[in-house]
Amino acid sequence: MKKTVMSLTVTATLLLISCGQNKEQENFGKSTEEQTVSITEATPNPLINEGKELFEGKGTCVACHNPDKKIIGPSIKEIANLYKTTNSNIVAFLKEESDPIVDPSQYEIMKTNFSITKKMSDKELQALESYILSYAD
Ligand code: HEC
Repeated sequence: MKKTVMSLTVTATLLLISCGQNKEQENFGKSTEEQTVSITEATPNPLINEGKELFEGKGTCVACHNPDKKIIGPSIKEIANLYKTTNSNIVAFLKEESDPIVDPSQYEIMKTNFSITKKMSDKELQALESYILSYAD
C-alpha cells in the first residue's frame, strides 16, 4: 500500500513537472499580455478603473482636474490628500450634501457639475471617490 502511494506521488510530481514545462513553452511570447492581466488583477480596488472612466468620460471632470497640477480646479492629488487626512466623504460632496473643504472660494464653478453627479448612481459616485483617493500619498 505504501508503495502504491509513493509511486502515485512520484507520478503526480512528474506530471506536474511536465505540465509546468508545457505551460512555459505555450506561454512563451505571451508574457507581456500576461503581465498586463496580472497588474489589472492586482489593483486593490476594482472601482478605481471604473472611476477613471467616469472621470475622463461622462463626468467630464478631467476638463478642470489634472492629476497633480492645479488647472481650473484643484489637482486630484490635492483633493485626495485633504479628503484622506480629514476622513471626509467625496460621495456626499458630489451629492451636494456636504460643504467644500478644498477651495471654497471657487465652489460656484464646481457646483455647475452637480447636475451631472446627481444623476449618477451611488456606485458610480463611489467609483469616482475611489479613483480620486487613489492619488493620495
Ligand atoms: C468647470 C470646471 C470643473 C469641472 C468640470 C469639475 N470640477 Fe471639481 N472643482 C472645480 C473647482 C474650481 C473646484 C474648487 C472649488 C471647491 O473646492 O469646491 C473643484 C473642487 C472639486 C472637489 C473638492 C471639493 C471640496 O471639498 O472643496 C472635488 C471632490 C471635485 N471637484 C470633484 C469633481 C468631479 C468628480 C468632477 C466630475 C464629475 C468635477 N469635479 C468636475 C472645477 C471643476
